[in-house]
Amino acid sequence: MSTYIEIERRGAVQTIRMNRPDKKNAITCAMYAAMARALTEGDADPAVRVHVILGVPGAFSAGNDLQDFLAVAMGGDGGMEVYDFLLALAELQKPLVSAVDGVAIGIGTTINLHCDLTFATPRTEFRTPFVDLGLVPEAGSSLLAPAVLGRQQAFALLGLGAKFSAERAREAGLIYAVVGEDELEATAFAAAEEIAAKPPEALKIARDLMRSPRDELVARIKEEGVHFRARLTSDEARGAFMAFMNRKQAG
Ligand code: COA
Repeated sequence: MSTYIEIERRGAVQTIRMNRPDKKNAITCAMYAAMARALTEGDADPAVRVHVILGVPGAFSAGNDLQDFLAVAMGGDGGMEVYDFLLALAELQKPLVSAVDGVAIGIGTTINLHCDLTFATPRTEFRTPFVDLGLVPEAGSSLLAPAVLGRQQAFALLGLGAKFSAERAREAGLIYAVVGEDELEATAFAAAEEIAAKPPEALKIARDLMRSPRDELVARIKEEGVHFRARLTSDEARGAFMAFMNRKQAG
């Protein structure tokens, strides 16, 4: 079965592409597992200097697959692969660049809090409807977003589920730059190649110094995870997942 994740090497740049366009790149357990493996293996390989994460035109990611959430909400015991991915992000030793176009929902937004440079197109919309889904922030976003955006913008993003245009995201410090659709990937690769050409040891030390302590981030991801798993089986969350699944019949 396809994991919808494509891994490529271009010189010292490892690219990870989410490629499930018919579901707007909603991320399944198998996709998390494949991405976690790629990050870990790329980090361990001296030939890789930088990771790039990409989606498809119009969809970086619509977030966690809601069908998978529903399965856990109904008593299934799967769904732990996401934590392998989140911990791989938190433990990442090499820079991560993202190129975002279109839909960037839930983890499609929070991945970028772990990135060193994010480029997004003008039509991109960042949104994290965790609370509306009866859930809580994940991926360490409850720690990273206030640090990156300030408390009030973080509350708007994570609490209110406010939509952040690419320009608003740039002003708030969530992303590095807004670039046109036609130049998005070329710009991200050029940045990745620039990073890859730097002295790797100095860059690693500099990057580590700039990031919040990993232990704290890992502890927060685990703490969020406890709440998140519990919320998945709440009536609030079950109702929200069912509403999404049934929306086409209802509409
Ligand atoms: N999980 C599972 N399937 C998803 C999905 C998700 N997170 N997001 C989109 N899809 C699927 C839709 O069910 C649909 O599948 P279908 O064609 O088999 O019915 C397909 O992707 C296209 O989505 P659709 O809703 O028809 O496209 P749209 O352009 O009208 O809306 C979104 C796109 C992303 C705005 C909308 O799909 C959406 O709100 N998705 C849920 C986002 C979300 O809440 N994610 C969880 C965050 S924690």
